[in-house]
Amino acid sequence: MNILGIETSCDETAAAVVKDGRQLLSNVVASQIDLHAKYGGVVPEVAARSHIEQMLPVVEEALACAKLDWSGIDGIAVTAGPGLLGSLLIGTLTAKTLAEVKTKPLYAINHVEAHVYANFLDTTSPPSFPLLALVVSGGHSQFVLFQDHLNYQVLGQTRDDAAGEAFDKIAKLLDLGFPGGPAIASAALRGDASAFAFPKAKLGHDSLDYSFSGLKTAVLRQAQELAGLDHTAPLSTLSAELTNQQKNDLAASFQKTVVDTLVDRALYAFEKYRPESVVIAGGVAANQLLRDELKRRLPIDINYAPMQLCTDNAAMVAALGYHYAKAGKAISPAELVADSALKM
Ligand SMILES: Nc1ncnc2c1ncn2[C@@H]1O[C@H](COP(=O)(O)OP(=O)(O)OP(=O)(O)O)[C@@H](O)[C@H]1O
Ligand SMILES: [Mg+2]
Repeated sequence: MNILGIETSCDETAAAVVKDGRQLLSNVVASQIDLHAKYGGVVPEVAARSHIEQMLPVVEEALACAKLDWSGIDGIAVTAGPGLLGSLLIGTLTAKTLAEVKTKPLYAINHVEAHVYANFLDTTSPPSFPLLALVVSGGHSQFVLFQDHLNYQVLGQTRDDAAGEAFDKIAKLLDLGFPGGPAIASAALRGDASAFAFPKAKLGHDSLDYSFSGLKTAVLRQAQELAGLDHTAPLSTLSAELTNQQKNDLAASFQKTVVDTLVDRALYAFEKYRPESVVIAGGVAANQLLRDELKRRLPIDINYAPMQLCTDNAAMVAALGYHYAKAGKAISPAELVADSALKM
């Protein structure tokens, strides 16, 4: 069964064709990173306008790369939420129009749930159930236990910032570039992770909730101290007062603290729920230190998805769409609603 996936929840316009929820036939992603970089973050109106321009060419390219025409597509899966409303509207409008015109079944997909399905793509050893997923992206940071496809429970999550959001904000503070995750990871390679001992917030030993906002403030206070500025100085002047080595050390110590927090909690979740497999999902799953530390500390073999399938793409949407199709979860085009606040 070939599912066409469509993804426009943030700043990537993406379409992909996946066979039987596993085999990648095509995966096209038009990134808007260059458009947003000069603003240091995603501008919703700019993102929505760019999706309009890119959407149909990206769908056509996904079909062409898969060497299929519409007769070879068995259904359309589209991200319905969560995400930026203006961006979601372009993908959902495209999907419902195509489903109507081409008479294809339509599946409304939860973007965060879809991130987990990157781990089922193009691998000879897909994860088995029960499956513990650490979802760490720009907007989410949560532990989810899947008993089977479409059957899951959220075990715990951040009480404030998502892991990716924390990376992005600290990168902005240190003026390291956009998107923040890769920028911090690369600065950290030249820094000393033991330079600063930042606090790890743990909300009770037996809780799988955690927090990154205190860490963010701790990095800010440390940077202000290094720069010789008091707490009232404007943040925009801070990075210019720091040396490159200080920024690299701050980045490395921050990254280590985030990774330690997540791996500590992952270890606790593993011991408590004893899953058959563990996966990481979402953009922060591309972080090499997180991958290495999870592998080192968890008593289980972990197969990681390729980096390019961790950040937003439509292949993960199509992979999950296959399971919606098997479960008979098609909806009519009129029922498809973009929901920016959709929860897992
Ligand atoms: N190597 C990396 N290390 C740490 N973070 C990274 C890395 N690569 C990407 N990220 C982070 O991943 C995030 C983007 O991931 P993703 O595209 O999954 O998020 P999103 O789609 O914006 O949010 P959500 O999926 O919650 O809606 C950004 O915050 C980015 O900084
Ligand atoms: Mg995402």
